[in-house]
Amino acid sequence: MRVLVTGGAGYIGSHACQRLLRDGHHVVAVDSLFRGHRAPMGLLGAEFGDRFAFVHADVGDRASITGAIDAHDLDTVMHFGAIAYVGESVDDPLWYYRNNVSAGIAMLEAIDASRDGRGVDRVIFSSSCATYGDPPEGMIPVPETCPQRPTSPYGFSKLHFEHILLDYANKRRSDGKPIALAMLRYFNVAGSDRGGVLGEDHTPETHLVPVAMQAAQGRRASMSIFGTDYPTEDGTCVRDYVHVEDLIEAHVRAADRIGPGVSEAYNVGIGAGYSVRQILDSVRRVSGTDFEVIEAGRRAGDAIALYNDPTKIKRELGWSPEITEIDELVSTAWDWFQANPDGYAKG
Ligand SMILES: NC(=O)c1ccc[n+]([C@@H]2O[C@H](COP(=O)([O-])OP(=O)(O)OC[C@H]3O[C@@H](n4cnc5c(N)ncnc54)[C@H](O)[C@@H]3O)[C@@H](O)[C@H]2O)c1
Repeated sequence: MRVLVTGGAGYIGSHACQRLLRDGHHVVAVDSLFRGHRAPMGLLGAEFGDRFAFVHADVGDRASITGAIDAHDLDTVMHFGAIAYVGESVDDPLWYYRNNVSAGIAMLEAIDASRDGRGVDRVIFSSSCATYGDPPEGMIPVPETCPQRPTSPYGFSKLHFEHILLDYANKRRSDGKPIALAMLRYFNVAGSDRGGVLGEDHTPETHLVPVAMQAAQGRRASMSIFGTDYPTEDGTCVRDYVHVEDLIEAHVRAADRIGPGVSEAYNVGIGAGYSVRQILDSVRRVSGTDFEVIEAGRRAGDAIALYNDPTKIKRELGWSPEITEIDELVSTAWDWFQANPDGYAKG
């Protein structure tokens, strides 16, 4: 494949670039570097030479996207580029829609403007379990048929773009230029590449595993648990944590197996939930340190328990996660944090 990876300088996108390059594919990463890092682009460039290129551009910059597709003869788009914080999206919804929806539309127009719109015939989109909002009773574990009722502008931005992609794919089919479309609804993604090269470095950091890592390393004085009175076994929220390399395996399988003219959505999660306290206990075990945890009140909009029903992705893509033990997942993240206590080199 010859793949355009948007958001390629971010956490998940950089892992996708690495896996695709290791498999022998040609990769062009596009990123505005608004939240991503130059450092992993340099590391991948040094290792994979002329099969990898980095383009510093916005997804909404039509000329850059069309130019990249034409110059590198690309046939596949993996679209990771997005802003992805629920709270931030509530504070500035129009920015979220502009970045995650309008820029995505411009990217599709840029695809159409390249090589008579016939070049790219495979699109894989990073959607989210946030499109489900609070699943109704009887829908946890969450199947793909769960009603999609987001509770935040972030979740809506992902759902809107799913709809836009479905309409785009229908139009491409009726124009005789069919695409294969996969919309992968991730649950919580965590961990680092087991080769120790790439990691997770968000600013601001809100994801539970890296926040706990920073607390374990003493880079935060303490960390908070939001809500300890939920009706779960230990009172804290339960989530499904999928290792980043397993997540990328789902992309590779979707790219291999979904044929032209077919549009499919798959949930990607291991199919089991871990509570916030279980994650923190795992970080304590793996790091061999303790840290202060503040028991704060519930956060508006947090679902009680969210984990995947992986039946469809197992059946249709033959995907199942290699890592299901939480200590194994957490130790991949810990290794990277130990080697890179300040995150990626900046600049
Ligand atoms: N991390 C998770 O647990 C999780 C869960 C569900 C879905 N997702 C989705 O996965 C994708 C990747 O998430 P991540 O955790 O790697 O985030 P990230 O912030 O590390 O990476 C996103 C990258 O996209 C870039 N970007 C954002 N908007 C852009 C634009 N308009 N043009 C060019 N580049 C742009 C950012 O600079 C960043 O490098 C996102 O679409 C996110 O919504 C992530």
